[in-house]
Amino acid sequence: MQIAVLKERRPHETRVAATPDTIKKLIGLGCSVVVETGAGAAASMSDSDYTAVGATIAANAGSAVSGADLVVKVQRPMTADEGTDEIAALKSGSYIMAQMNALTSKSMAQALAAKGVNAFALELMPRISRAQAMDILSSQSNLAGYKAVIDAAATFGRAMPMMMTAAGTIAPARVLIFGAGVAGLQAIATAKRMGAVVYATDVRYAAKEQVESLGGKFIVVDEAKMKAAETSGGYAKEMDDDFKQKQAAAVAAEVAKSDIVITTALIPGRAAPKLVSAEMVHSMKAGSIIVDLAVETGGNVVGSVKDQVVTTENGAIIMGYSNVPARLPRDASALFAKNVLNFAALMIEKGSGNLKINFDDELVRGTLITKDGQVVHPSLVG
Ligand code: NAI
Repeated sequence: MQIAVLKERRPHETRVAATPDTIKKLIGLGCSVVVETGAGAAASMSDSDYTAVGATIAANAGSAVSGADLVVKVQRPMTADEGTDEIAALKSGSYIMAQMNALTSKSMAQALAAKGVNAFALELMPRISRAQAMDILSSQSNLAGYKAVIDAAATFGRAMPMMMTAAGTIAPARVLIFGAGVAGLQAIATAKRMGAVVYATDVRYAAKEQVESLGGKFIVVDEAKMKAAETSGGYAKEMDDDFKQKQAAAVAAEVAKSDIVITTALIPGRAAPKLVSAEMVHSMKAGSIIVDLAVETGGNVVGSVKDQVVTTENGAIIMGYSNVPARLPRDASALFAKNVLNFAALMIEKGSGNLKINFDDELVRGTLITKDGQVVHPSLVG
């Protein structure tokens, strides 16, 4: 079977879905691999790095996919109404895997089905232990949480740790994290390592122990409601207005005292909850930093703007970088590509390198959004 690796075309995308290391393994399984020229350039991987492990370079996307049975990408393919039609060149009957944002891009799933392309949405990977090595949300969120703290610290006009010097004592930075999932926990760990005092809040009560084990202080809002806030998949539910009011009251004083606020709260398939109000932003000291990692799905912070760094009238700085993992292209690509390799390997027959898919496997069922010209994922039909 032939696998194609495409160059990403969406703005701000620097990652690539296969590295020389993962391609070597795919070739070892019996596959041949074609890489579109320049696919790894933004992640510091050259065409010659790919040819050195046995890949072939294609001059453009069309020739890369023309013979491909499986296309691997970081981001969902662009559709005609987005300016570049990446679906048109795909072969009918072929497979594609990428982060599809399937729950919010239903027309793309229809376009893939209409073209006869069978698509896997990697973000829908079930969160079970067998799938951990294929979980792009975890691998990328972890880096986003780390980078959010680095971005904040680099712009913050003060130091993070407490320092006792002959010239005086510097107080440690006070950091508040909203959402203690994968990104939030890494942000807590990173800020702690840098010497900050860290507070965190989440709607899931299970997060309390994890925050505390990293040395953070957890803000409890309503214990009973928090204990019921987790779905069987481990995600947060949307909370009622009463909880939201209690949460706002509980965190408002903490926001005002914080030097750095990092928000990571998401609810799958829905707009991000607004957690930091205009009043809370206004209560912060001049020079304090807010990083809104949820900006792509509407933002957790009133006043955050996608892809902009905004200074508010009271001198706080709100960072709204989208696609933060792409700000660490080399590591983000390496982990994403490993996730792709581990999932693809599940469906490749060793030796022949042919696709042999068990459609009853829950990882396949959980991620397959189109098959044989139909949209098939339960979350997208009906
Ligand atoms: P996510 O990216 O969907 O959300 C981030 C965090 O925001 C979550 O902790 C969520 O509870 C929180 N949140 C949502 N609404 C909020 C609100 N109104 N206020 C405050 N916080 C709010 O979640 P992520 O990071 O993907 O993790 C979700 C869960 O899945 C976690 O329990 C994590 O430990 C678990 N997980 C399990 C894995 C496995 O077993 N294979 C792999 C990765 C994560």
